Amino acid sequence: MNILFQPAKIKNLQLKNRFVRSATYDGSAKLSGHVSERQIGLISALAEGGVSLIIHAITYVHPSGQISPYMNSLANDEFISGMKKLTKAAHEHGAKIAIQLFHGGREARYVKTKNQLPLAPSVIADDPYYKGNYRQITPTEIEGVINAFGEGAGRARQAGFDAVQLHGAHGYLPSQFLSPYTNRRQDEWGGNLENRLRLHREIYKAMRRNVGDDYPIFIKLGVEDGFAEGLELREGIQAAKMLADLGFDALEISSGVRGEKYSGTEYKTKINKLSKEAYFRPWSREIKSQVDIPIIAVGGFRTLGIMEEIVRNKEADFVALSRPLITEPALICQWGKDPNKKPRCISCNKCLEALHKGKPLHCVAFPNK
Ligand SMILES: Cc1cc2nc3c(=O)[nH]c(=O)nc-3n(C[C@H](O)[C@H](O)[C@H](O)COP(=O)(O)O)c2cc1C
Repeated sequence: MNILFQPAKIKNLQLKNRFVRSATYDGSAKLSGHVSERQIGLISALAEGGVSLIIHAITYVHPSGQISPYMNSLANDEFISGMKKLTKAAHEHGAKIAIQLFHGGREARYVKTKNQLPLAPSVIADDPYYKGNYRQITPTEIEGVINAFGEGAGRARQAGFDAVQLHGAHGYLPSQFLSPYTNRRQDEWGGNLENRLRLHREIYKAMRRNVGDDYPIFIKLGVEDGFAEGLELREGIQAAKMLADLGFDALEISSGVRGEKYSGTEYKTKINKLSKEAYFRPWSREIKSQVDIPIIAVGGFRTLGIMEEIVRNKEADFVALSRPLITEPALICQWGKDPNKKPRCISCNKCLEALHKGKPLHCVAFPNK
């Protein structure tokens, strides 16, 4: 049997196969941050479609972390009951579900509508990689954010999620702290790698206090920035090892602070030949060889054979997909029947561009399928 369809565990979480739906912002939450019927439909379709673990989209845990109007919140208890409907939808259709806890840092543009400035480890003058007005976060505010992550994780568990994932990639707050380019602090939160990872460590400890020892806590970690002056892979690998030693139960390996073009981001475009697929494979392979916790590989998976090879060769334990499952949520079941099936997704990123214009998540290239 193809190894991709064989069960595996993360901590005590039993997963029926090796396919994970990587967190995918859906622009479909209610303006209040509550779960919508549309989101319940999206989760049901993915669960029915064969994926073993759905990682639900970026969800803010502290008001200062909100990046967009239509994202979910777990910033207080009022959100738990709606989230229960989401976890029920996944479970009823045979999938497990985790939630990605998030703080946008300097990219949390939506807070400007609340007359606040986004927060960042440091303010970088004339930064070609991010244009925006934001200010430096204070040590007291850092403590507030850490507590909010802890409490958010506790609420996730109460809502029935099977795990939480800290978003530590793609240029958001933890990524901004890890990168020597965006973190220029002189206090205990900046400087050497140990200090630049302090936020991750403290968030982990706060989460663990709130969820208990038996509950899986993952991190999606950006191990290299998308430009030359940013986080180098050498340090990214070191960070991955330190976080595994700390107690994180799985690592999803992705990129950190973004460059200016899609080529320097987590969602590369035009994946139209085998050599363009699995674009973070070398990073996963290296980290898998150096840590003892499960590795989730992500980034441009389109052909079953490559994914199978990666898991069989122990370059990763799981493979995660985002864009192909937007247009074909039942892709995993289809691959089960026909391993040669080509996914419809052409990696045009028009789904992303539509989201940026405030539209709910949908496939723009094949809207009627
Ligand atoms: C529309 C869209 C929304 C995304 N939302 C998130 C998100 O909420 N959290 C996250 O970590 N990554 C997010 N990503 C990145 C994906 O999880 C994934 O890392 C990336 O798209 C590469 O995988 P793929 O080639 O299978 O799409 C998003 C990507 C897209 C295209």
